[in-house]
Amino acid sequence: MTKNQPIGIFDSGIGGLTVAKAISDLLPNEQLIYFGDTAHFPFGDKSEEAVKSYAEGIATFLLQQNCKAIVVACNTASALAESYLSAFLPKDVLLIDVIQPVAAFLNSSTFRRVGVIATKGTIGANVYPQKINALNPDIDVLSLATPLLAPMIEEAFFNNSISQSVINQYLSQDVLKNIDALVLGCTHYPLIETEVQQYYQQSGQVVAIVNSAKVVALAVQNQLLQLSLLSTNKAVNHHFYVSDYTDSFEKSTKVFFGNQLKLEKQNIWEG
Ligand code: DGL
Repeated sequence: MTKNQPIGIFDSGIGGLTVAKAISDLLPNEQLIYFGDTAHFPFGDKSEEAVKSYAEGIATFLLQQNCKAIVVACNTASALAESYLSAFLPKDVLLIDVIQPVAAFLNSSTFRRVGVIATKGTIGANVYPQKINALNPDIDVLSLATPLLAPMIEEAFFNNSISQSVINQYLSQDVLKNIDALVLGCTHYPLIETEVQQYYQQSGQVVAIVNSAKVVALAVQNQLLQLSLLSTNKAVNHHFYVSDYTDSFEKSTKVFFGNQLKLEKQNIWEG
């Protein structure tokens, strides 16, 4: 691997752009190749076998693009397919998921009652409690599947009274009572971070919101630094691929990256 090869980033749709943006802010010299598998969105209610095969197909595409690192910017794929991918990828390709860096962050924090909201796939796999408690068994991890949120956000349906009421309904569940931090365990959720904050402010609870995008970007920086693989590129030309073109994807991509993006349809699933 050489420094100036791109970083591949993938998700089922627009959610991983929160991670891509954090990486591009922190590491502006890195060229990013983003793949949103909009043809298979949402991953959150798919079987483990399906998510593994999507992850393998996308990783193969990113390897063809000569990526030095692959960031699984999707909690569901991280939860269900990370070990599979790590066995599948060549050993010199750096693989970074979105769950381990959050577990390490929580371990270094003072939070001891931590809520996690995520897709059904992520919560069902139980990977957050396993990874957090492997580092610190004293942290109580309270998990809640919130399957309506990612499709709502993918449709750019947030910051309105209906989204606030869906969010309030989930966050007021008993399982999340008395938490001191809430992990946004789906890369779509940073887009509703303000509404989550509003819920806690209005209900008078002090709960820190853990947005994994920045934590993951820092992990990418550290690991590339350790491997002497930080890019020295002066001008970078990111690529944003989708397996199925949608207007909402285009709109959301522009929200994050302005007009510098070039959205490309690449159906890697066609024979
Ligand atoms: N953004 C993805 C995640 O982090 C999932 C949304 C979905 O495809 O269900 O889990």
